[in-house]
Amino acid sequence: MSDQQMDTVLAETRKFPPSSEFSSKAHIKSMEEYQALHKRSIEDPEGFWSEVASELHWFKEWDTVLNDSEPPFFKWFEGGKTNICYNCLDRHLDGPNRDKPAIVWEGEPGDSATLTYAELHSLVCRFANVLKSLGVGKGDRVAIYLPMVVELPAAVLACARIGAVHNVVFAGFSSESIKDRVLDSQAKLVITADAGWRRGKILALKEIVDAGVEECDCVENVLVVKRGIEEEFAFSMKEGRDHWYHELAAGQSDDCPAEELDAEDMLFLLYTSGTTGKPKGIMHTQAGYMVYTYLTAKYVFDLKPEDVYWCTADVGWITGHSYLIYGPMQNAATVVVYEGAPNWPDNGRFWEIVEKYKVSIFYTAPTAIRAFMKWGDEFPQKCDLSSLRLLGTVGEAINPEAWIWYHELIGGKRCPIVDTYWQTETGGIILSPLPGVTPTKPGSATLPFFGIDPAVLTDGGEEVRAGILSVRQPWPGMTRGIWGDQERYKDTYWCKWDGKYYFPGDGARKDEDGYIWILGRVDDVVNVSGHRIGTAELESIYVEHPSVAESAVIGVAHEIKGQGLVSFVTVRQGFEGDETLSKALNALVAQKIGKFAMPERIVFSPDLPKTRSGKIMRRLLRDIAEGRELGNVTTLADPSIVESLQDQFNKGA
Ligand code: WT7
Repeated sequence: MSDQQMDTVLAETRKFPPSSEFSSKAHIKSMEEYQALHKRSIEDPEGFWSEVASELHWFKEWDTVLNDSEPPFFKWFEGGKTNICYNCLDRHLDGPNRDKPAIVWEGEPGDSATLTYAELHSLVCRFANVLKSLGVGKGDRVAIYLPMVVELPAAVLACARIGAVHNVVFAGFSSESIKDRVLDSQAKLVITADAGWRRGKILALKEIVDAGVEECDCVENVLVVKRGIEEEFAFSMKEGRDHWYHELAAGQSDDCPAEELDAEDMLFLLYTSGTTGKPKGIMHTQAGYMVYTYLTAKYVFDLKPEDVYWCTADVGWITGHSYLIYGPMQNAATVVVYEGAPNWPDNGRFWEIVEKYKVSIFYTAPTAIRAFMKWGDEFPQKCDLSSLRLLGTVGEAINPEAWIWYHELIGGKRCPIVDTYWQTETGGIILSPLPGVTPTKPGSATLPFFGIDPAVLTDGGEEVRAGILSVRQPWPGMTRGIWGDQERYKDTYWCKWDGKYYFPGDGARKDEDGYIWILGRVDDVVNVSGHRIGTAELESIYVEHPSVAESAVIGVAHEIKGQGLVSFVTVRQGFEGDETLSKALNALVAQKIGKFAMPERIVFSPDLPKTRSGKIMRRLLRDIAEGRELGNVTTLADPSIVESLQDQFNKGA
């Protein structure tokens, strides 16, 4: 957050209580009720969570609710046998939800499909049988690189059903990213599609996968879903390795019993950026994640049988895992899945979808809201949005201006907004208003969810008004660590405060009402459009280029994206920092990560500002890039560098 944004947030005093009409129908109706339940969840977590877990299906009940004998490696529901896919599908088949739409799907070109819970169950069973026919079983890793078609949630649920570990790679990542993730997780199967649609263009996904898995000996098979595109695109099938999903599925039964899995059996891996060059495989297990996503979805989105729920996130990110698939489906919600871009064929597409399917709960990212604001009020105004009753945001702190626009233009001033704070590692929402309870303040994620005991601390562990966010107790949905690197898990999340509290990596402020305001990352991770990018990842890519000597990548305030990246690069003697090199470096980032990780700007400079001990002063680079008054520069080894940096920066502006 820039200083200016911080000032706006500090000055924000408006409060929006939920209407009594909303509260009276909500699952949780009053602050007293919330406080009493929250108190119980903190004082007696085992009692609280075992009651929640009892609402779900278990093949065998657990022996212990929480095993905290080896912190930070907490285990939940040990001894229990369950299956999250069973709880998303089979559990609903005996009652009225059987014929209720589970997925309402809309493709970018306008094709659509509806699947009831019974139909989704059949699809997932068939998919699971296909996986088995390819030799995939419990514990095997399966990489999934699919567009937002029905087969994406189906593939995820099919893995869960047989106990295979899914590793979804967002379909905007490059071949090399696929390779890194496939190799790190040693996936034996990759599921992809021949192609997908994005803003009217064909994404040749299979081709990207082919380049990615070329050197991956672990990959035995590639399963290919046919998107049904008539136009030509680059495509090939490799004899023996590649199989059409529809061909294998044709011979399969649509019955496949859900595997009886141990509570702590691994459910999925999802890679996310950290402070080093190497993304980390965040691990989640069956039961704890299941119980936590079930309850957060139920209470934060106040899910009711008649709701039509739309989370606009891609399944490739944690939001899509927890709140497009697992949370809402355990609650038997009707989930809208949209394949394409918000601005295709025009800027009104999202609102047309809300009108068409009578969406009642809408969950999106602040960056999208800011884009809508920019595109103009006429697009939402043209559509009937009266079906909406609840709005949500996720991914970054929302600026009050966007919050108010969302509240007025989309919510018609009647819909509560839940600003949900969480991360890949937390598995589910940890801070959020409850829509029938919490008076909201634009820009604040407000209060902790049940079982979450947050504190704002100094480095030394003292409680302060503004400092570093911590969580003082384990909760069921928390990550079980980093795949293949539990030392890194301890170092990253449990290094502060003697390993006693979880450290999410965000700065925070607690106000007089106890509301928490997230102030942004305190590590070298930048939140671009709600997606985490490690500055070290880009820096290590740049120095692979023969003409680059050194680089420092920083995050700067960005009107739409929240934060954008600016890369400061110094070139080796004899090389030129020019347009050509700039393009080459951008191409390198697109090749190694994906286009979405390209910086706003590359600034070439003869040197970088460093302290006498050689540490790059990033704060100073941020000040330069955001055009701020520069503070004391006398600690610099070479203070004269500041002027030349400013010149370089202004030249390209
Ligand atoms: C980081 C996690 C959670 C799913 C999407 C991103 C930031 C997320 C909020 C919010 C302020 C937020 C944090 C967090 N963040 N939601 N409501 N208010 N900041 O998941 O890629 O794991 O990123 O996103 O910085 O640490 P992720």
